[in-house]
Amino acid sequence: MRIGIVGAGYVGLVTGAGLAQMGHQVTLIDIDRHKVEMINRCESPIHEEGLDSLLRSLVPDRLKANVEIEDGFGNVDAIFICVQSSSSDNEHLDLSYVMAAARDIGRALGNRRGEYPVVVVKSTVSPGSTEGVVIPLLEQSSGKRAGIDFGVMANPEFLREGTAISDFLEPDRIIIGGLDAKGEAVLEEVYRGINATVVKVDLKTAEMIKFASNAFLATKVSFINEIGNICKLLGIDAYKVAGAIGADPRISPHYLRAGIGFGGSCLPKDTKDLSIVARRLGYEPTLLRSVLEVNERQPLRLVDLAEKKLGSLRGRRAAILGLAFKPGTDDLRKAPSIQVVEELLRRGAVVVVYDPAAQIRAKAIWPDVVTYAESARQAVSQADAVFILTEWEEFKDVRLYAGKAVFDGRRVLKPSDVSGLNYDGICW
Ligand code: UGA
Repeated sequence: MRIGIVGAGYVGLVTGAGLAQMGHQVTLIDIDRHKVEMINRCESPIHEEGLDSLLRSLVPDRLKANVEIEDGFGNVDAIFICVQSSSSDNEHLDLSYVMAAARDIGRALGNRRGEYPVVVVKSTVSPGSTEGVVIPLLEQSSGKRAGIDFGVMANPEFLREGTAISDFLEPDRIIIGGLDAKGEAVLEEVYRGINATVVKVDLKTAEMIKFASNAFLATKVSFINEIGNICKLLGIDAYKVAGAIGADPRISPHYLRAGIGFGGSCLPKDTKDLSIVARRLGYEPTLLRSVLEVNERQPLRLVDLAEKKLGSLRGRRAAILGLAFKPGTDDLRKAPSIQVVEELLRRGAVVVVYDPAAQIRAKAIWPDVVTYAESARQAVSQADAVFILTEWEEFKDVRLYAGKAVFDGRRVLKPSDVSGLNYDGICW
């Protein structure tokens, strides 16, 4: 099938590469010329395992990128909206990129003759947005009618950074939120060949499924962090508790790793956006608010732990191992490391940082207030206290930590490794 994708960010690029890998003919559109040129040179603009080699096998025969919607773009079978969505302040959800994409796509559809193209909203948007915002814009700018001249579907994604390609090609479930049966049939055809449970719902239910998935994962993490904080006060290892409760299939062992909290562009944002939606409807989301509050305070607990053990941090040399919000990515959005570094600086510590992937991005946040080491060993050698904030493999080498006070925020070291070390875990 011929597929267009508007937005070549994380979701758009992985979706495009995944669909091209499945045999479709894909055109990606992004206003960022630099990104488009990189993709056309088979270089991935994002740090994602396997994406470079996938691009090399797909570009230009099955996948290409453009800065503008060209004539003929409207002749594709399906157009996915994958632009950045609802980055919110405390009261508003921002749909401006989705709205701009809908207008552009509408104009392309206006020139189209014959067949039934389907517009697919993959960007995470609040429930009701496709019906209330996207469809009216598509209709206005195309001069055509949704459900008659073209289809509109909501098809949220569940890709995790670091494993996004396999998540795309081997998903647990595909959510098909539909306006009409004709549109559903097109989307089913797009995903033919993928073996997954297909859930068919209406548009706003599909949108809610995405918010509820991420909010539930966030809730699990804040839950185990709260249990972990209580465990720490009692001298109990939260990982032993999590292992045992996770053996109950009603609970499951996933998302029970206690630590410094969840970061990234999705769990924090979607939980917050869902709270905003609830408040707008006159419902106070007490649980979601608490999930965010626990998460907001969690990174600071590691700094408090260090201060309790070492006394004032003023003038102390602190090494940060790991900045990315999780291993396998260079993404620093809402990374708990940012709060830890800022708090250490606020309390007067001298900070040296090391991350195998996220250092370039970190330099944009702290051009000169921290020092950048070239290896974990070099960072640790300059410090009295070591803070482990991302579970990169290379930080598991216990020899790194001899003679240092170690504060582990991600359970990187096993209890069997730490005897003989001056070691503390945040929840164990
Ligand atoms: C998340 C969801 O897992 C995906 O299903 C979803 O598609 C994506 O958001 C999205 O909405 O686009 P991602 O942001 O890549 O994916 O990150 P996760 O792997 O879910 O991890 C999020 C954060 O939670 C990380 O900081 C991680 O360290 C933390 N976490 C996760 C814990 O602290 N403990 C755990 O047990 C699990």
